[in-house]
Amino acid sequence: MTGEWWRHAVIYQIYPRSFSDSNGDGIGDVAGIRQRLAHVAELGVDAVWLSPFYRSPMHDAGYDVADYRAIDPVFGSVADVEALVADAHGMGLRVLIDIVPNHTSNEHVWFQEALASGVPTMAHEARTQFTSGPWSRYHLVRGEKSGTAAPNNWKSNFGGPAWTQLDATDGSPSGWWYLHLFDPTQPDLNWQSAEVRSEFEDILRFWFDRGVDGFRIDVAHGLVKEPGYPDDHSAAAIAVSGDNPPAPQYDQPGVHDIYRAWRRVADEYDPPRVFVGEVWVQPASRLTPYLRPDELHTSFNFDHVRAPWWAPGLREAIEVSLASADAVGAPTTWVLENHDVWRAPTRYAPIASDPDGSGFTSLLDTSGVHTAPRDLITGLRRARAAMLVMLALPGSAYLYQGQELGLFEVLHLPDEVRQDPAFRLTGGAAIGRDGCRVPLPWSRDGQTYGFGPADSAASWLPQPSEWAALSVQAQLGHSDSTLELTRSALTLRRAQSALGEGELVWDDHDLGRTVLSFVRPAREGGEAVRCVIAMEGSAVTLPGQWGTVLLASDGPLVTDADGHLILPADTSAWLSIPPSLPTPIPAV
Ligand code: GLC
Ligand code: CA
Repeated sequence: MTGEWWRHAVIYQIYPRSFSDSNGDGIGDVAGIRQRLAHVAELGVDAVWLSPFYRSPMHDAGYDVADYRAIDPVFGSVADVEALVADAHGMGLRVLIDIVPNHTSNEHVWFQEALASGVPTMAHEARTQFTSGPWSRYHLVRGEKSGTAAPNNWKSNFGGPAWTQLDATDGSPSGWWYLHLFDPTQPDLNWQSAEVRSEFEDILRFWFDRGVDGFRIDVAHGLVKEPGYPDDHSAAAIAVSGDNPPAPQYDQPGVHDIYRAWRRVADEYDPPRVFVGEVWVQPASRLTPYLRPDELHTSFNFDHVRAPWWAPGLREAIEVSLASADAVGAPTTWVLENHDVWRAPTRYAPIASDPDGSGFTSLLDTSGVHTAPRDLITGLRRARAAMLVMLALPGSAYLYQGQELGLFEVLHLPDEVRQDPAFRLTGGAAIGRDGCRVPLPWSRDGQTYGFGPADSAASWLPQPSEWAALSVQAQLGHSDSTLELTRSALTLRRAQSALGEGELVWDDHDLGRTVLSFVRPAREGGEAVRCVIAMEGSAVTLPGQWGTVLLASDGPLVTDADGHLILPADTSAWLSIPPSLPTPIPAV
């Protein structure tokens, strides 16, 4: 396990609540992850990233952390996590865990101690921010602007205002408000505080000392807010991403000092530990500073998630992403699914109003688009094709648990089981993210399709019956299944030295705007590999010799009478290119 593995790794995201439940309470846990970890290792990935498992009241599924050094009892114990890390390392998998530095839970002792100290009443003029006492130490508390108005107009990403007023010791409104860019139970931390900075460096060390290989940093662009706390006049008043013009809550220059300090901590270890930032910024060029050699090793690149099912749009997302990371010598990352966005087969499924299935919806989408009938067969074809393209791109790639099964988004959950705070805070207008968090189906039968033991309680979110046929058991060994496609792709990605790190050269073909094709030049004595995708419309015949098929997202592919390969619509393929063929394809 040497070298800068993160430059080309495929990383599998485990969402602990929904991966595997060892004790049958209907909620996934760390022991359950250990029981099923071989599935992940056998897929052929290099690492796992675990969403939060810390002690939490679970108002945002664990992204509301009450103790960064303790595991929630529903998931297990620190010893369980240590055992999981040891198992993973034994299987050749690195382990990244989530850290949530933008906010804590309101049940964190830092917030509770401040609350217990009471909230002093002060003259309005004196109220801007606490400079001493418990409220100055950890959280972001500001005085009201005037009268009874909150300090500014910022909105929560989950709906409603981003400020909640604290009660004074006598129970009256204090005129002091705490910031929460997310749920009111997630107070934002004050990163101007030296105590916050040193606590987090200590938390990093706590987990590095227990063997974790790195961290995924939640809301990494949000830690520092614009001084003076001006109103937000950016294009979208509510957005997880920074906007253009920049929103005052995000992507402030001061954030980079924090990551330079964190990098020094990661570099104290041998081998050095790594970071991947959750940085929702637009345009992609704004990612570049985060990836400087003394800051984060990698960052998610959400242009790829947002790219529509449209070849020029996908090409542009790829180009800007490569450029933003290349500028500072960092690898790009690619991601099509995670626990915050609709699963790809649903996103890409055509609907009447959107036959191209561009499909990205924001967290607070209230358009009702989820009720439209969808062509999920085409959606799955496209998701498989997109996955092969992703795994052929230079850099590292992320797979979200269940993506290897082709699971679709569960859009029609009953209201009473929905748990995403966005659903509650928008009064049900936005359905939220529960639909991509439904527990995995492992077997064809059983009350939870093998998610829990045979006598298990119902899973925390109900699984649709169609998932029996998408279970691991139903797909294993079936060469046309999404599971076997994923395994084949990951095996080939390891075997073909052209894939992973390296260059990308676009083919200059003449097949119009529905086909994308690029070459990964030969490296280390191997062959060059071409990836080609037909995105819309009808099948295309690849004129001339483009290479020998290694793998197709749906196959087998056939040739015409002249031996030219026919690529059906919504299909991608990897071709090996013998040295005798030209790369790239010249324009005719
Ligand atoms: C990130 C997480 C998301 C969470 C939010 C608040 O965007 O990915 O799941 O709700 O941060 O922590
Ligand atoms: Ca459990």
